[in-house]
Amino acid sequence: ELSPKVEAIYQQMTLEEKIGQLNLLTPGGAVTGEVVSKDVNLKIKNGQVGGIFGIRGAAKVRLAQEIAVDSSRLGIPLIVGMDVIHGHQTIFPIPLGLSCTWDMDLIEATARQASREATADGLMWTFSPMVDISRDPRWGRISEGSGEDPFLGSAVAAAMVKGYQGKDFKDPTTMLACVKHFALYGAAEGGRDYATVDMSKVRMLNEYLPPYKAAIDAGVATVMTSFNVVDYVPASANSYLFKDVLREDWGFDGFVVTDYTAINEMIAHGVGDLQRVSAEALKVGVDMDMVGEGFLTTLKKSLNEGKVSMEQINTACRRILKAKEMLGLFDDPYKYFDEERAAKEILSEGNRAFAREVAGQSFVLLKNEGSILPLKKSGKIAVIGPLADSRRNMLGTWSVSGDPEKSVTVIEGIRNAVGATAEILYAKGANISDDPEFARRVNSFGPEIVIDERSADAMIEEALEIANQSDVIVAVMGEAADMTGESSSMAYIGLQPSQKKLLMALKETGKPIVMVLYNGRPMTLNWESENMDAILDVWFGGTEGGNAVGDVLFGKVNPGGKLTTSFPVHEGQIPVYHSMLNTGRPYFGQQAAKFTSNYLDVPNGPLFPFGYGLSYTTFEYEKMELSGTTFSANKPLTISVKVKNTGTVAGSEVVQMYIRDVVGTISRPVKELKGFEKIMLKPGEEKVVTFELTEELVKFYNVDLEHVSELGKFEVFVGKNAVDVEKREVELVAE
Ligand code: IFM
Repeated sequence: ELSPKVEAIYQQMTLEEKIGQLNLLTPGGAVTGEVVSKDVNLKIKNGQVGGIFGIRGAAKVRLAQEIAVDSSRLGIPLIVGMDVIHGHQTIFPIPLGLSCTWDMDLIEATARQASREATADGLMWTFSPMVDISRDPRWGRISEGSGEDPFLGSAVAAAMVKGYQGKDFKDPTTMLACVKHFALYGAAEGGRDYATVDMSKVRMLNEYLPPYKAAIDAGVATVMTSFNVVDYVPASANSYLFKDVLREDWGFDGFVVTDYTAINEMIAHGVGDLQRVSAEALKVGVDMDMVGEGFLTTLKKSLNEGKVSMEQINTACRRILKAKEMLGLFDDPYKYFDEERAAKEILSEGNRAFAREVAGQSFVLLKNEGSILPLKKSGKIAVIGPLADSRRNMLGTWSVSGDPEKSVTVIEGIRNAVGATAEILYAKGANISDDPEFARRVNSFGPEIVIDERSADAMIEEALEIANQSDVIVAVMGEAADMTGESSSMAYIGLQPSQKKLLMALKETGKPIVMVLYNGRPMTLNWESENMDAILDVWFGGTEGGNAVGDVLFGKVNPGGKLTTSFPVHEGQIPVYHSMLNTGRPYFGQQAAKFTSNYLDVPNGPLFPFGYGLSYTTFEYEKMELSGTTFSANKPLTISVKVKNTGTVAGSEVVQMYIRDVVGTISRPVKELKGFEKIMLKPGEEKVVTFELTEELVKFYNVDLEHVSELGKFEVFVGKNAVDVEKREVELVAE
């Protein structure tokens, strides 16, 4: 219900003004499609715009709000959105990196800080969190999600929503969140962005929809549609998704916005002209049309022809007005423009310090032969590689309000860490890629891949010269920021040939090599994992990423990140994920065993499994203890394990609990994450971590799409990652 004040405004609205509220435009800035909104100010004045997004800077946003409030007939304020994805101006690690912290309080706090900055800057609605599960590292947008697992993904989704939305929308530091992209965007065929998705409802409900549901349960105010088809019907007009699941089963009563021109794109999907697809979207409960203006230009005609009803238009309009009312915009349309707060808040020392802490927590130590890390702050250190001194690439994808110029590079971070105690030498050594055509495609947002005028050999020679004089090489390699993100799919996900050649030459020097890896996706790293002494995966760490690299390389911070997505051995294996179903002829670890499910040329499993990550210390797990061997609806099972820090420095460990439902009415995954706890232990310290295995936790959607548990045997696994676990058998019994 609307408040009496807003109801009174609603009662005065014409059909055109109601349809106007359903129109979301972008005056430019963050344009991610073919269509750019035109005559935005005039349309706002005419009451033809409900919201705008994608413009940077409070002054510009204020101007648009003034037109809506002062010059449109009813003075209805605009809702102003933006892709605040991993921080607003102080940028945190990319979401995939953030998820590797496995720390929900920390993740919530990043969204809270982002919201504080964004709301001081005139914004009140973020198109985040993106909760699309993906098991395909070729898909560029894997960088924007939380990886492959629905249980972890659900926890992250809820934490992000809580962080943005806070406890009360009246609080001017909170904003509306928007869970996206509903649904299944991360399962695009071949990892190609926007491509077809086709999956069973059983899989959808068990493995892909839970994070969206978790966001709804956490109270997310808005939902964004997805570009792909689901069951051959474009998601943006998919009645099953929006009517049956979102509105009816989950009881969502906020508003739904399309993705950028997603309604118009249904024409290319082949399901009708603009009038038809716009009507179809409205009818399933889509309320706001992003950029495409299909609602604006066709809904009146559809109403006159009886193709949509007045009630459908009214419902959508009221949902949008309700959101504006919740934000308090009808009382104060300028509550999010606070120059004083902006000056204090944005990129403040405290915000940057927190971003640095978070970045350090997101790094995953993939290899550390002979404990070469942490490095000593002495001698000569050769810092080599195309990402070592590349400010442009530090923030990662979808950091639209972040200024790369304000970020700290790796070489700066290393210098800050060592001061004058060690000699730091630097050489670029290689281009991110030597292919100008590839560089052109990647560089659509700016010069991320800069091809040096010197030849590749000359660059390598310079690198070898400093490498040969040094005690250790820090090779800073990987992807440019926009080699992942939207429309950045890749068929080959290893290091580019230019960088591989450099690494091979460096290897010849015989010096120890620590590889610092920038990446927005799992990469294929076979050669590197065999030939590098250490590999530290730093994703894209954000504004303070370079300092965080310095902190971790020299031991001020002990890395504790754990992978949330499996790293394949080879692209041809994709998808590789921990919760696969068994086959009738299972692979049992012996490659090429005839007539079992395997490859002749590569193993089945990942190079680095889900949940994996090393530390500068070591943890020992005692045998797990169970409260019994059975559990039931009223009597959960308690699983405890004592973990001890057996090394010499303090560190964090993510203790993980998986289950397998051994016999079901349908085939069940070989492992499913069902619990995790991150603990911090001083040297010699031990802690008991306890999980509760409840009947609720083992429920799943069966072949009739009922959410049930089934009595019988379960396996319980506790350990350091999806592979390194201890297993026990238990049973779910009737009361
Ligand atoms: O929020 C994004 C979405 O994730 C991809 N298309 C554009 C939207 C608005 O910028």
